[in-house]
Formats: sequence, structure tokens, C-alpha cells
Amino acid sequence: MNNKFEAIEQKVLEKIKPKPEEYREIKKVFNRIKEVIESILEKNKVKAEITLQGSIAHDTWLSGDHDLDIFVLFPKNWEIEELKTRGFNLLLEAAKIIGDYEIKYAEHPYVRVRVNDFQIDLVPAYKLEKSSEIKTAVDRTPFHTKYLNNRLNNYLRDQVRLLKQFMKSIGVYGAEQKTKGFSGYAVELLIIKHGSFRKLLLEAEKWKHPVFINTLESDALFKKIRSKLVRKYPESVIYMPDPVDPLRNVTAAVSLKSLATFVIASRCYLNNPSENYFFPIQESDEERIITALDKRCILLLEISMDEKLSPEIIWGELQRIGDRGAKVLKNNDFRVIHFSVYTDEEKYAYIVYELDQCTKNYPREYIGPEYWTGNRTLNFIKAHLLRQSFGPWINEEGKLVSLGQRKYIDAIKLLIDRTWEYLVTPHFKNKKLIVKRITREEINNLRSTRGLYEWIKGFILKRPHWMEYCIE
Ligand code: CTP
Ligand code: MG
Repeated sequence: MNNKFEAIEQKVLEKIKPKPEEYREIKKVFNRIKEVIESILEKNKVKAEITLQGSIAHDTWLSGDHDLDIFVLFPKNWEIEELKTRGFNLLLEAAKIIGDYEIKYAEHPYVRVRVNDFQIDLVPAYKLEKSSEIKTAVDRTPFHTKYLNNRLNNYLRDQVRLLKQFMKSIGVYGAEQKTKGFSGYAVELLIIKHGSFRKLLLEAEKWKHPVFINTLESDALFKKIRSKLVRKYPESVIYMPDPVDPLRNVTAAVSLKSLATFVIASRCYLNNPSENYFFPIQESDEERIITALDKRCILLLEISMDEKLSPEIIWGELQRIGDRGAKVLKNNDFRVIHFSVYTDEEKYAYIVYELDQCTKNYPREYIGPEYWTGNRTLNFIKAHLLRQSFGPWINEEGKLVSLGQRKYIDAIKLLIDRTWEYLVTPHFKNKKLIVKRITREEINNLRSTRGLYEWIKGFILKRPHWMEYCIE
């Protein structure tokens, strides 16, 4: 049986391990950038260390991924302000020489430059000796690199690659708002902790939240900080302390949906392994999609964006709007079966809602207060006597109930009229919004927009690609 797993995992590794040319190419790009930054530092008489970090430095990157994380480490006696302005400006000066660039914002600004198909982040940070001196989030990174390179060997590096590819394919890789999944560092720690891809999956298929994973040297220390971690991250579903900074939860970003997806996909893979878990195969089920639309109520909201925003803000606010919209629908007696959000991160943001029905023609049940709530019962009776209601009456649970007119019989009209109730986040308030039902005709108009169409298709078909292989 194990041979079956090994054969699959070997084949996957052949595809995802970087090729020697890729290593050469990366080295070339890094050296070129290093030279430019060095000359700028020299010219400005600043002493700083130019370091490669992230998965390239850990040698856990995937073939085809050409993202370089370059951290320039400045003297620790600089003030934070100095690092943010002087340090940042030196990197900006270098970026202008290197190629196309843009300024990015995390906790601090950094610069992203492009060279051929490489995306390089130039991040100013401090040069520190001990992790206890960490001043900003990015200062942890060099310590991560040291920690990992002391513990990873070539076997474990391959196991990290398998897990990254698996998580990518099932949609839980990445700690950004868009995904709310596992960061590269979380994957690396999970492999170090459990020893291999499959050993981790054998644990993960048994997980139930809250999950606690001790990534620290001692059990005693873990016990001591566990409750502190829960207090600091009350919303987390999985807790994994950062070995270089134990009061930080490495898996703080993981949503319940991502955790559940990983647990079920692990069980499925162990039950019936296949290469397909690692590489989504695009089924083009056009006929099924089109006929599905006739029988279902799927509403698409399109919001126009007119300013450049960071993906974290767009995805974060969009999810909040999606939640609020679902509540507005629910309050008006429409049942939201499923919803999802998507954005091209430039011009448009979208929400889709699948409802039990798009229009409701019959009167609606209004559940009123319980008999012992005093004047609230009178208010409910008064309101319903004034309307053309049937009722109120008193049900078996001792509550007032009434059958009355709906405010909205059409979910589209509701979403258009009540935009102010859910389009509430700072950057989306008052933006232009269109609501339409996805019909056979409408889906044709969406087909030409690549990412949008893939997302809608997934929403209509619902079942994740890997679930096809779950059962033998
Ligand atoms: N990092 C982190 N937590 C995050 C994101 C990033 O601690 N949520 C730090 C880690 O030290 C990581 C480094 O930033 O090593 C680079 O991050 P990133 O490029 O996002 O991940 P990689 O580990 O490089 O993985 P990959 O690029 O292969 O996805
Ligand atoms: Mg990286």
C-alpha cells in the first residue's frame, strides 16, 4: 500500500522540484540585485546586510515560483522612523535602477520590483543578534531562516514541497485575506514537527478545532504559553507557536473553512491517493453548468472600484460586505445556501449568492415575542392589526406569530434598494453596484473574463475538484 503513495509522491516531486536552470537563473537575478543595492549603500555610506529570505533561502520553493524575498538588514540603533524612510528610500533608489517597481504596504512600506518573470520584494528590516530584540513583524524572518535551515534536510525540504503543492491545489495555501490558509512558514513547521507529508496527513485527518500543535522544544513551555496564546488569538481554530517568538500564533490566519478543507482532503487522499489531488484538472462541464442555471437562483453583485487598494483591504472588506448582504437577505426571509466573493484586485469586486428562491410570492411568517414579554406582545399585536396580516395567533411554544405581507418579494430588488445596509466598509461605501441573476444568457457574457468565469464555474458546480477521487 505504501508503495502506491510513494510512487505518486515521487511523480509529483519530479514535477514540482525546481530544475537546475531555475536555481542558476535565481542566483543570477539575486547577484545582480545585490550589486545594485551594494552600490547604493556604498554611495550613501550606509552599512547594511543584503540577505535572501523566504522559501528560496530555505530551499523549499516550488518549480515555476519565481518570488524572491530580499531583506536588507540595517543597524539596530536606527529609529523605526529612520528605517521606514531612510532605509526604504535606499531600496527605492535601487529598485528604480533594477526595473519596474511598485511600492507595497504591510506593517511598513517595502518595494516590489520585476525582472523578467521574477517578482522581488525588497524589505527593510533590522540586523539583530537575538530574536528577543525583534521590533517589527519583518524582523522575525531572518530568525525563521536560521531556525529552519538548522532543522531541514533535503528529505524534509521535499516533504515541504509536497505539502505546499497539496495545499495550493486544494486552495488553503497562503495566509492572505484572500485565502485565509497556511503560510509557507506554517507548512515548514508542520513538516519539521511531523517528519513527513504523509505523517502529517495521518494526524490532520483526526483534527478537530481548536487544534494545538507544539512546535516548541519543551512541553512545559508549551503548556505555559497555551492559554496566553488563546487569549491573544481568541478567534483562531489552530494554534502553533512561532518557535522564534512563542507568543505569536503562526496559524492565526487559518479560517475554519480552510482547516476543514485540509482535514477532509487529507482523509480523502489517505483513503484513495492520486496525483490529481496535487494538480487540479480542469473539467469543462459547460453543458452541466448551463442546465444547472435554469433550476437555480444565483445572484451576482458587481461592485466597481475606482481607486488602487491593497489586496488585503479589498478581500477583507469584500468578505465583510458578503456577510452583511447575506444577513440582509436572511432578515427578509431569503435563505442563503452558499455565497462567495471574488475580485480582480483592480477594477471589480464580486459577490455571488445562491438562494433557495429568487422571488417569494406567498405571505411570510413573522415570529413575534413570547407571551411573558409584557408590552412587547402588545406592540407586535398592534403592528400586525394595522397591516393586512393573517393573525397574529399564539403557537404551541407560547409565541405570537403572524402571517403577513413581505417587504420584498424579489431578492434582486431587495439587494438594490438596501445597498446601504451592507455596502458599508470604508473603501466600498457609495460605490456603483449592479445586481443580476446569472442566467444562460448572462453566463455567456462572463465567459470572456478568465478568473471571474473560473470562480463562477466553481460556485455553480460546488464540489471541489479533489473530492472526485475521495472514494475508490
Ligand atoms: N512570513 C511569516 N508569516 C506570514 C507571511 C510571511 O512569518 N504570514 C515570513 C516568513 O518568515 C517567510 C517570509 O516572511 O519565510 C517570506 O514570506 P512568503 O514569501 O510569503 O513565504 P515563503 O516562506 O517564501 O513561501 P513561498 O514564497 O514559497 O510561498
Ligand atoms: Mg517567498
